[in-house]
Amino acid sequence: MAEIIPEPFRIKVVEPIHLIDREAREQALQKAGYNVFNIPSEHVFIDLLTDSGTGAMSDNQWAGLHLGDEAYACCRNWFHFEHQIQALTGLQYVIPTHQGRVAENLLFSVVCRPGTMIPSNNHFDTTRANIMANEGEPLDLVIAEGRDPQSLYPFKGNIDLGRLDAVLKTHGAPKIPLAMLTLTNNSGGGQPVSMQNIKAVKEMLKPYQIPLFFDACRFAENAYFIKVRESGYSHRSIESIVHEMFSYADGCTMSAKKDGLVNMGGFLALNDARLAEKVKAKLILIEGFLTYGGLAGRDLEAIARGLAEVLDENYLTYRIAQVKYLADLLDEYGVPCLKPTGGHAVYLDARRFLPRIPPAHFPGQTIVTQLYLEAGVRSVEVGSFMFAHPGPDGHMVHPDMELVRLAIPRRVYTHAQLAYVAHAVHELYQKRDRLSGMRIISGGEGSLRHFTAHLEYLSKS
Ligand code: F0G
Repeated sequence: MAEIIPEPFRIKVVEPIHLIDREAREQALQKAGYNVFNIPSEHVFIDLLTDSGTGAMSDNQWAGLHLGDEAYACCRNWFHFEHQIQALTGLQYVIPTHQGRVAENLLFSVVCRPGTMIPSNNHFDTTRANIMANEGEPLDLVIAEGRDPQSLYPFKGNIDLGRLDAVLKTHGAPKIPLAMLTLTNNSGGGQPVSMQNIKAVKEMLKPYQIPLFFDACRFAENAYFIKVRESGYSHRSIESIVHEMFSYADGCTMSAKKDGLVNMGGFLALNDARLAEKVKAKLILIEGFLTYGGLAGRDLEAIARGLAEVLDENYLTYRIAQVKYLADLLDEYGVPCLKPTGGHAVYLDARRFLPRIPPAHFPGQTIVTQLYLEAGVRSVEVGSFMFAHPGPDGHMVHPDMELVRLAIPRRVYTHAQLAYVAHAVHELYQKRDRLSGMRIISGGEGSLRHFTAHLEYLSKS
């Protein structure tokens, strides 16, 4: 029997959820234009759309909300927030934002010019879109193993050092104002980046004086994987691993909605005083004063407390084991998934799930919509619906993988609920020969079309 890892918490407040009947689910899906972002959450039974902002806060965080100091400037929660981030990351200048993408927007609107390149392992979709909106070019340089859903390599989020070296040699510093590493690599399946890789990237950037930024949304989950998978780290505390990770960073963007364990919030942190000044001027224009950045004092307090809680190894052990529990059940059912299991989600391999449906007909979106219909479970496509775009010659460029993400909110669902999800996916897998591909019928333009486009099935299943 697999080791049993009990939740390191007990449940104090519950929120009822309901499974509406199949006919109502069919109607909801139709009304949503077969885009699950448009389905009212009350019509969703188990919501695995995202792990972002969907977690449960602790009693300690809820208590912190009552200590919110709602002064416009320099509220006491700001100092706690700033101190916590400085202590965690060693980064000097902390810029609060209401979510991660604003940190990206502030950063890239200041550093990007036409022709600028931003290399990364994989940029998340909002990061990519923010770079492009500022006329920069996002470069995804993840290692080959990171693009192979079957590779069992333990750090599939690593950047390909050879490709990074070639980009640096060809373009040099003027074109590259910073390089990024997404920890863990969300678009590549929630896969971690090793300490060795982080260190090597930093060394490679040094001669060019190019700063290294982390997209730090899931930094604690990344640190946990380093602890359990990388030699030399098993006896180190999560906190000391996090400190070492950040010792190689010159800045970070962060959505606190993930490893900040809150429902809303984010920040940009960096060491470059001049860059910080430019960003601060913009912050006041678009978010708010320097000590609140679009957040209430109570939100700042909850984030400060969440960033401390997330370092608890018992929490991280449970967290990663829960995600693996779902993956192992799917594995037992023979459902093709991305391996090894990532930090925050299980990813179904839609290419192998529905090999008859080509990427241009969005096999992942078929699975997403049918899983909702089958069981009221909401997931998200991470494949051609999200990422395909016209290349320079006008032909569509499809991503390396067609995935369906079942993202697990933090401290929210029980094992029985995840067993229900696994069972539903299995039922769907058995019907796979009857499923049809899809096409977009409206709103198909732009790099963020997956949020808004409407679709239909190519034929009735
Ligand atoms: N970077 C990564 C790696 C992310 O996963 C996200 C958000 C962001 C940046 C942007 O943060 O939402 O606070 O503006 N990811 C969510 C997801 C939306 O579902 O994976 P945000």
